[in-house]
Amino acid sequence: MAKLAILGGEKSVGNPFIKWPVFDQSDIRAVDEVLNSGNWFRYDGKNNETFETAYAQYCGVKYGLTVTNGTAAIEIPLAVLGIGPGDEVIVPSYTFYSTASAVLFVGATPVFCDVDPVSYNMNLDLLESLITPRTKAIVPVHFAGLPVDMDRLNAIAVRHELTVIEDCAHSHGSTYKGKMTGSLSCVSAFSFQASKNLTSGEGGLILTDDEALYQKMFTRHTCGRQIGKPWYEHHAVASNIRLTEMQAALLLRQFSRLEEQTEQRLQNGLLLEKSLQGCPELMITQKQEPWSTRRAWHLFILRYHPGIEGVSRERFIQALNAEGVSASGGYPMPLNRQPVFSTIRPPQGSPSYGELEQPGADTCCAKTIWIAQNQLLGGPEYGRAIVDAIHKVLENADELRNME
Ligand SMILES: Cc1ncc(COP(=O)(O)O)c(C=O)c1O
Repeated sequence: MAKLAILGGEKSVGNPFIKWPVFDQSDIRAVDEVLNSGNWFRYDGKNNETFETAYAQYCGVKYGLTVTNGTAAIEIPLAVLGIGPGDEVIVPSYTFYSTASAVLFVGATPVFCDVDPVSYNMNLDLLESLITPRTKAIVPVHFAGLPVDMDRLNAIAVRHELTVIEDCAHSHGSTYKGKMTGSLSCVSAFSFQASKNLTSGEGGLILTDDEALYQKMFTRHTCGRQIGKPWYEHHAVASNIRLTEMQAALLLRQFSRLEEQTEQRLQNGLLLEKSLQGCPELMITQKQEPWSTRRAWHLFILRYHPGIEGVSRERFIQALNAEGVSASGGYPMPLNRQPVFSTIRPPQGSPSYGELEQPGADTCCAKTIWIAQNQLLGGPEYGRAIVDAIHKVLENADELRNME
């Protein structure tokens, strides 16, 4: 009789993990209040402004601007900073599409920086060699919530007079040397898409300390309007990228849980790290660096290395899923190798995007196991359930070998 659930054995995880998103009657009431008020858009209600102020304060930044999603939260600053055709922007090659698509969207050229296959963040040893006279900005991603070494990155940016836009889609509540991610560069972008550690289904936020930049971004997100000027005066090329009051009301409720949830993910992330340290088949990645004073753990990332002899990563992941742990292999290829890039002209003097070697990102794509953030919520019993499921699959690897 098989022990593994993938072959009909009993599932390892008895109590299902905490379902994401987490909400209760107070969230329903908050949205209901907006619905009943009839004040559904930002100019009629106060929820967007209240959330912007609260989240900016949380991060220690002066201005917050809600937008429709995290992609727009990168596009808007790039556009407002005047970055466009002929300019280059450095982005990591192991990240979600939007980090680079935002650069394409403003007509500029993404330059891919390979990632460190242990931290999953941009490899800062490579960064300077990618800078050319055309480089205008760098968009680092605090991948899975592990902060990038921003002092080092910012020093390079200052030396070359480049703007830094932090992509904080994974790092709500992460701190770098005690300071919030999102407060470590000229401007930063957050996503509140459904999978993120803080969500309203869709949504985004831009933070900056620069008042002039904030005002330009505000204008850009609301049809070229300027604060305090007549409704039908349009001062700039712009779009409508405003968030609804329903979403902002939901964000305020969700935000009230963020600190507690971040702490739970942190404790369970540490538990997993400690408990899986001794598994010879797996490698713990994203090691604690002295500067990463708090990690949001948007994903818990394991490396299937060296893996179980004779069992593919995909099979291992299927087996974990069958045990009740939701795991995935993450991005299938470095971003520069996505089909869209075969249609895009590469930076001057570079090989085509498809030919660009990114060995760090290749390793991440081939070997990674992502465990989603909601499974780190709750008490240590949830962390232990993940560890038990992984041990069960490792201990019964023979059953998987027979499937190959
Ligand atoms: C690293 C990163 N940047 C940007 C985004 C874009 O956010 P959104 O989906 O809200 O547009 C995402 C979303 O998955 C992301 O993971």
